[in-house]
Amino acid sequence: MSAAVFSRTVTRGDDGALSVGGADVRELAGAHGTPLYVIDEVDMRARACAFRDEFTAAFGRHGAKVDVYYASKAFLSSKVARWMRADDLCMDVASGGELELALRGGMPAARIGLHGNNKSDAELRRALEVGVGRIIVDSFTEIETLDAIARELGAVAPVLVRVTTGVHAGGHEYIATSHEDQKFGLSLASGAAFEALVACQDAEGLDLRGIHTHIGSQILSLEAFQESAERMLGLRAAFFAELGVDLPEVDLGGGYAIRYTPHGEELTPRDAAYGMAEAVAAALAKVGGTWPHLSIEPGRAIAGPAGMTVYRVGVVKHVNLDEGGERQYVAVDGGMSDNMRTVTYGAEYTATVASRLSDAEPALSRVVGKHCESGDIVVRDVDLPHDVARGDLLAVPATGAYGRSMANNYNAALRPAVVSVRDGEASVHIRRDTLEDLFSWDVAPD
Ligand code: LLP
Repeated sequence: MSAAVFSRTVTRGDDGALSVGGADVRELAGAHGTPLYVIDEVDMRARACAFRDEFTAAFGRHGAKVDVYYASKAFLSSKVARWMRADDLCMDVASGGELELALRGGMPAARIGLHGNNKSDAELRRALEVGVGRIIVDSFTEIETLDAIARELGAVAPVLVRVTTGVHAGGHEYIATSHEDQKFGLSLASGAAFEALVACQDAEGLDLRGIHTHIGSQILSLEAFQESAERMLGLRAAFFAELGVDLPEVDLGGGYAIRYTPHGEELTPRDAAYGMAEAVAAALAKVGGTWPHLSIEPGRAIAGPAGMTVYRVGVVKHVNLDEGGERQYVAVDGGMSDNMRTVTYGAEYTATVASRLSDAEPALSRVVGKHCESGDIVVRDVDLPHDVARGDLLAVPATGAYGRSMANNYNAALRPAVVSVRDGEASVHIRRDTLEDLFSWDVAPD
């Protein structure tokens, strides 16, 4: 077991079983079934608070303020929204559904930012009706539509313009979001972002608060964030120079990398905070301007390391490799329906036997699921003991972000429950799907 990858309250008892938040994983698995997503509440909230405190301190040195928006797409339940409210974070939602869950958990609408490249009229209307704190506009179509809806409702929509800065960063093409050739935002280089700012400024139904960018996900390099901060502040300075308007807010998005395997690296909240504060200071020194009110949107770095998935081992096979040697295939009772990341992004994970200690020799292993696809891989390469067997529990750490939130019902799989644990007590956030759930959306023949 690698302490560096598991969340902070995970320990291994004398009998070799893992416990998290003071709860034995064997008992959690018995009570809630497997696969099971387990969130270490202390860990997740400590990460949220670390972002809040480190950024507040780093930017506070310059007299600037920062809000931390938890990017709820990483993992959302109404209980998580409640934690974020209690811990003084704000929340980024990317759809009408996420908005409703955030509200259900009691997150004040004023602390919610609504994202999306193709928001529906209904989503925009609802956001205005409940009074979200900001809507991040992503296109000229949306600027027109939102302006019209706001005027119809007699409201004024607080908006930030989503800017594509041209900084290319992120672990995988599908999670990089600020290069030119993709669907998000308005381009800085082409002048579209500037034009959008002017359009928002002129729109009666909109209150232009500032600019937003998100360069991608699982980013280790501070340089990419620094480059994007400089470009954003350059745009803000150009807007001031041309229109005399000092945009009050700048959101620099999320994307901070976490450690998925013992060899992986992370960008810590402290390094991110001081690195970005210095970057903004340097950019302002270069392009001019007052300090804006900053915001950031970490998702993965708050939820990811706090969560693990517990699986039950079913079939174990040994397969000869062309290059010699063998691979141990360990099939678990979930797979690409509860973790899409390995197959989608080639993401790397690690795993450990969670229910006992083994002194068997390590074997080159691959953890696979039970779906009808050979690409249904959870952990591509990991050493597991040679005696791993049917009935053992396996824990895969760092699955708290984009695990349950991207889960699906492929092969009519029943999506796992999500429980959080703290001081030995488990709290169900999302119950496990049931056969009745499957039947409830299948329309039976007459
Ligand atoms: N802000 C915006 C506008 C975003 O689009 C995202 C992520 C975030 C913040 C949070 O990024 P984070 O801090 O979590 O990296 N499903 C992919 C990740 C997609 C991220 C989409 N947007 C994955 O599993 O890696």
